[in-house]
Amino acid sequence: MSNYHIKDFEEYFQVYRKSVRNPESFWEEIAEEHFLWRKKWDKVLSWDFSKPEVKWFEGAELNITENCIDRHLATRGDKTAIIFEPNDPKDPAEYISYSELSNRVNKLANVLKAKGIKKGDRVCIYLPMIPELAISLLACARIGAIHSVVFAGFSSTAIATRINDSECKMVITSDGSYRGNKTINLKEIVDEGVDQCPCVESVLVVKRINAAINMKEGRDEWLQPLLDVASADCEAEVMNAEDPLFILYTSGSTGSPKGMLHTTAGYMVYTAFTFKNAFQYREDEVYWCSADIGWITGHSYIVYGPLANGATTLMFEGVPNYPDWSRFWEVIEKHQVNQFYTAPTAIRALAKEKLDYVEKHDLSSLKVLGSVGEPINEEAWHWYNDNIGKKKSPIIDTWWQTETGGILISPIPYVTPTKPTYATLPMPGIQPALMDENGNEIKGNQVDGRLCIKFPWPSMARTIWGNHQRYKDTYFSAFDNKYFTGDGALRDEVGYYRITGRVDDVVIVSGHNLGTAPIEDAINEHPAVAESAIVGFPHDIKGNALYGFVILKEVGEGRDRDNLSNEINQTITEHIGPIAKLDKIQFVVGLPKTRSGKIMRRILRKIASKDFSNFGDISTLLNPDVVQKIQDGAL
Ligand code: WTA
Repeated sequence: MSNYHIKDFEEYFQVYRKSVRNPESFWEEIAEEHFLWRKKWDKVLSWDFSKPEVKWFEGAELNITENCIDRHLATRGDKTAIIFEPNDPKDPAEYISYSELSNRVNKLANVLKAKGIKKGDRVCIYLPMIPELAISLLACARIGAIHSVVFAGFSSTAIATRINDSECKMVITSDGSYRGNKTINLKEIVDEGVDQCPCVESVLVVKRINAAINMKEGRDEWLQPLLDVASADCEAEVMNAEDPLFILYTSGSTGSPKGMLHTTAGYMVYTAFTFKNAFQYREDEVYWCSADIGWITGHSYIVYGPLANGATTLMFEGVPNYPDWSRFWEVIEKHQVNQFYTAPTAIRALAKEKLDYVEKHDLSSLKVLGSVGEPINEEAWHWYNDNIGKKKSPIIDTWWQTETGGILISPIPYVTPTKPTYATLPMPGIQPALMDENGNEIKGNQVDGRLCIKFPWPSMARTIWGNHQRYKDTYFSAFDNKYFTGDGALRDEVGYYRITGRVDDVVIVSGHNLGTAPIEDAINEHPAVAESAIVGFPHDIKGNALYGFVILKEVGEGRDRDNLSNEINQTITEHIGPIAKLDKIQFVVGLPKTRSGKIMRRILRKIASKDFSNFGDISTLLNPDVVQKIQDGAL
């Protein structure tokens, strides 16, 4: 059925139009033809954004693991489902077939059941990027338990907050993890966290690094001996379409992390459909997403989306610079990767290194390059396009959020003509709207505004765990009857979307709205600049002025800083106009980043306005010590 796999631009428009004119029948057709249901739905969609309440495929019964595993066994039993590439390239890769995946998921599911986990119970998963991580998600889904993955880089306090918020009964973790030439003792971190969590009854421990760890009597157990005696048959729990599948925490601009709740059928249908189309995946190809499963990108596009399509998905345990900066390119050559999906922050780090690292590897297997998580600046886009894709592999700049469950705006490779820094066009079923400050929709092209979505799509989060009011306030209150993304976007003359960044990052200078991302883009064009971040700070006359934190490629080279500042402003003037010039430029050694690579602008804003008090919780930063260094430099 062509709706499921779009093959040319004309077809995209046809499919898109159909999806908007009649969303129910559009999604119903896809759901009918491409998935395995225990019972079909009574109603495709009911929704009311004022409550807000959204239900897809109500009345249907299914289990997502039967769709991701069991139904492939007859035709793809021996096909590799997961390629595991370990941290150390000297260790062998693991190739897990669909039938082996089935056995391993069922065994773990039986272990969970034996430990008293039932449908609806929450299980926290805190594991490195090893096969057991993907298997744990699927084992929970098999028995109807709700998984809550916490990225295995978060601190014990962050774990405890998340476990307590959703009252997890169990934690699945490991003795430790490898990260380049370091090992991290995960179990110690979990122990500290779980000490503050009375709800946790048991902790299952995967052996990964052979670390000497404490096992708390009556609570902790090694997983392997339990798996050794478990049966490889486990009947899948029959789930209702709207039964919860998982919780995943995401940080808001203020307050405690939000436990976004995703449900079963809609999430499955949408992630499978978008995986197929956004990556143009075809049978026997090898797909690699370098994100961690601890983030939504990993949930949707390492585990559920690929496996629902019977794809081969690669899990990489390591880091881009171990043993050296050629590691990513080596993995692509070794496994003949066809689709590669990564983040701009990784691309910029890789682009700073010598091209030799890239050039010694054969990257000719690549067909599609993906980008996700933040706006990709023009320089990084071109570097990725020229050196990795060799101008032959389309770059898909995929825009979406933890809350949206799947990709909402993205080119379809070989279908949608790409344009650097543009996420281009909505996926079928997605109805974006740009809004002005007065709550009116801005029609037409060559406009910019706040990005909203005005019609439900199957994989949208249904609530924030335990706080439906906050869900309503955060996403459905800014604009009437619309989901507000928190992002700003512009629509160019042909209707392509470019995400300009969080609206809270927009700075109004002399009455002009300036997105920080395009200015950073411009600055990064300067040959001496490695990376930059712009924030607003109060200005007597203009209201706000711009402050730039700039990392230079060569530190301590003694270049004339005043000259460089002038040149940077000249570059901005050339790319955007004098209105976007920076009032202050500070050269820094690093930028405060979250573990997912996002710049913590909140901190930079305070430093820029010389407010050095109370930075809030910076313990979850990747590099907390950089804050003091920037502050010292700002004095
Ligand atoms: C930003 C990641 C520009 C955006 C899947 C969004 C992007 C937030 C892009 C969600 C992109 C994500 N271009 N910005 N292609 N993709 N973003 O929840 O601000 O970690 O609101 O989900 O990242 O981040 P999250």
